[in-house]
Amino acid sequence: MTAQLIDGNALSKQLRAEVATRAAALTARGVKPGLAVVLVGENPASQVYVRNKVKACEDAGMHSVLEKYADTMTEAELLARVDALNNDPSIHGILVQLPLPKGIDAHKVIEAIAPEKDVDGFHVASAGALMVGQEGFKPCTPYGCMKMLEFIGVDPKGKHAVVIGRSNIVGKPMAMLLLQANATVTVCHSATPDLAHFTRQADIVVAAVGKRNVLTADMVKPGAVVLDVGMNRTEEGKLCGDVDFDGVKEVASWITPVPGGVGPMTITMLLVNTIESAERAAAAR
Ligand code: GUN
Repeated sequence: MTAQLIDGNALSKQLRAEVATRAAALTARGVKPGLAVVLVGENPASQVYVRNKVKACEDAGMHSVLEKYADTMTEAELLARVDALNNDPSIHGILVQLPLPKGIDAHKVIEAIAPEKDVDGFHVASAGALMVGQEGFKPCTPYGCMKMLEFIGVDPKGKHAVVIGRSNIVGKPMAMLLLQANATVTVCHSATPDLAHFTRQADIVVAAVGKRNVLTADMVKPGAVVLDVGMNRTEEGKLCGDVDFDGVKEVASWITPVPGGVGPMTITMLLVNTIESAERAAAAR
């Protein structure tokens, strides 16, 4: 069996076109949706990510501001910038790129973002809302994974989903979203003694640990859906995920490639959250 590919670029194109239509409608009503992206320090990967986020915003007809600061910026200075953006009516979403330089408490900075502008979904208020099933922003990567399941017509209801990884950004919110969609959810992590024992029972596997070949063909139930959130490099420098793609694609029914799978969906869902925030702000005017 050879799995069908879940094309994150194709789905992103469709969703971003919908965002652009909504952005144009809001702009015509006098509210141009705006995203502020704050980068502190010189992390090369972060520089690429923030550039892509700002470009995606502009391509969708949204306003975007990129604020770049040296790693000498103090926590107090960053908190003051977040406060100013909280009070800026042209900004509907605020994203502080992680990781932050040493000496700045990321939790403190994220908690300073107004929850109604927390388009990353990282604020404790957003995490809490997700936990108790209230309305709030969902973290972009797991939200994108849920959209991919919807796109291929796989309803998690009654299925066994295994999430590998327990980060605040992906693993934990992914488990919550799957649970909310009525899946039976198992969360595995670095201290799970026999990972294959769990993954072999899974109808849906989400791999989100940041380590190559965490999931190999012998660990996958025939016909399972495999979503690969990993972003790693081979010895030759080629981009790859957490899943042994060539092996697993022969066993799974659906699989996301890396690149071109979950990756583009993260930015797409950031745009979706930002337009949502701008629409709420416009409705409240
Ligand atoms: N660093 C890696 N991924 C992300 C993300 O989705 N948002 C933010 N703010 N920082 C990140």
